[in-house]
Amino acid sequence: MLENIAALETTAPPRLAAAGSLEELATLESELLGKKSVLASYKSQLGGLDPDERRAVGGALNRARLTLEDAVLARRLVLERDQRRLQLNAERLDLTEAAPGNEAGHLHLVTQAMETLEDVFVGMGFTVAEGPEVETDWNNFGALNFPPDHPARDMYDTLYVEMGEPGSTVLRTHTSPVQVRVMSGQEPPFYMVMPGRVFRQDTPDATHMPVFHQIEGLVVDRNITFADLAGTLDAFTKAFFGGDFTSRLRPSYFPFTEPSAEFDIQRPDGSWLELGGCGMVHPNVLSNCGIDPEHWQGFAFGFGLDRLGASAHGVADLRDLFTNDIRFLSQF
Ligand code: PHE
Repeated sequence: MLENIAALETTAPPRLAAAGSLEELATLESELLGKKSVLASYKSQLGGLDPDERRAVGGALNRARLTLEDAVLARRLVLERDQRRLQLNAERLDLTEAAPGNEAGHLHLVTQAMETLEDVFVGMGFTVAEGPEVETDWNNFGALNFPPDHPARDMYDTLYVEMGEPGSTVLRTHTSPVQVRVMSGQEPPFYMVMPGRVFRQDTPDATHMPVFHQIEGLVVDRNITFADLAGTLDAFTKAFFGGDFTSRLRPSYFPFTEPSAEFDIQRPDGSWLELGGCGMVHPNVLSNCGIDPEHWQGFAFGFGLDRLGASAHGVADLRDLFTNDIRFLSQF
């Protein structure tokens, strides 16, 4: 028995150390230390030995058991560490790694449309301005000639922010409050475009999103007329879409422009795309911003970028633009 135990103590640890997997180690462990192991069967025979022999074999069994248990534990730690390392490597995400065939990535469709629009207007002598997405009720509505409780406020399904007096802070419903920011405390002339994200309480569907993008235009100078507005929009249409596109204006209503119009473009195939609103800046808006309407006139326009970008690429459902499916986005 003692010889066998000593043999086991030398042959077992190298076998354990060579276990190639945690499963293999568990099998070896039960073979060498389990209920049916040699060690267990010797232990059950201890009772039949005489006292001296029993003490010697008992001691040898305990030492052997400890040696084997240590060997199992040491091997388990190594195997577990290796397994963790393998798993980490398998789950590793290298965000700087270039996907084959798509090395550099590119700007989102809406960002591309926004930048192209900015370029067109900068080419026409405009500068670019931006404003915050969380706005005061005054900038989003009041200064724009929406009296409190005026029904025109219902044109916008406003999202209010719990900040300050109830109803005093909104997520801007359009980019027009940036007009107010540009005009307040600065001297005309202004030739500005103002792109940005806007918010309305709307259920997402193929043609509506609660978060979307607009670009606003504002011109204030001496002797600006409605003809300047129409000419600017038509020049923009041709520069952005191509010389075979035309534009038209339809009478409309906005509290901050008078007269007001809707702005549509016509594709070469004759079909129309509704783009946005425009009009001559209302004298009350100029006064609200500290500009004398007797001396200055202006026009403004604003239109959505998402539908424009979608229609330029034949995207039928606006929601596809924002679900961030790389297979969809990489097409544009
Ligand atoms: N702000 C308006 C809208 O979002 C569009 C508009 C801008 C109309 C400028 C007139 C002048 O509906």
